[in-house]
Amino acid sequence: MNEPQRPAPVAGEAERWDARYAHPKFVYGYRPNDFLVDNALMLRRCSRVLCLGDGEGRNGVWLAEQGHRVTSIDLSSVGVAKARLLASERRVSIDAHVGDLVEWLRLDPAAQGPWDAVVMIFVHLPPEERRQVADLVTPRLVPRGLLLFEAFTPAQRQLGTGGPSDERLLLTRDRVLHDWPGMQLDIRLTDRRIFEGMGHQGLGSVIQVLGQPRAA
Ligand SMILES: C[S@@+](CC[C@H](N)C(=O)[O-])C[C@H]1O[C@@H](n2cnc3c(N)ncnc32)[C@H](O)[C@@H]1O
Repeated sequence: MNEPQRPAPVAGEAERWDARYAHPKFVYGYRPNDFLVDNALMLRRCSRVLCLGDGEGRNGVWLAEQGHRVTSIDLSSVGVAKARLLASERRVSIDAHVGDLVEWLRLDPAAQGPWDAVVMIFVHLPPEERRQVADLVTPRLVPRGLLLFEAFTPAQRQLGTGGPSDERLLLTRDRVLHDWPGMQLDIRLTDRRIFEGMGHQGLGSVIQVLGQPRAA
């Protein structure tokens, strides 16, 4: 399933995601992302975790179930409403916000951190916004804080199993290194089977990133 197309500057993006999330089921499923689960043991209990582009909340809610204090943000009010519902069904709480990442990170007091971890799963932004998000987030991570994200690479476009078709939104090692100069990064490119709701189904070409702020 291809994600909504996004011309730059982004117009109607929230409406496109709202329309997608209006589906009665959870588009990316109820279970957390595999890369997140594989690495979440690195987080100390009660970590302050910021989930960027958390969609319908499968990752933020799962992190809250693990005992972490989760703040999340997504452009789609429909997605965020589903995330809040999922949290209440699972009897956990998340501080879920609706907004554009860059604007919210710049302006909202709830976005200022500090954060023990920042998580971003399959959030594909235009290059300028990507760099802005990185610049805003990096100084708000605690010294040994964790950056964790997974995204599709340009090779994903041939696989047809999800993700955007606009090449500029997809991530390469060079793009990640360019975006996050303040972080020490562990970057892995791999093809893996992804089964996340109806949104991601089948073999995916992904980049998986773990990072820590560079020592000052
Ligand atoms: C592929 S979905 C992934 C959702 C969630 N991270 C997950 O793994 O289930 C991408 C999400 O990024 C959000 N998004 C895209 N651009 C955004 C922006 N500029 N600000 C906030 N959220 C954004 C969309 O609303 C959507 O929920």
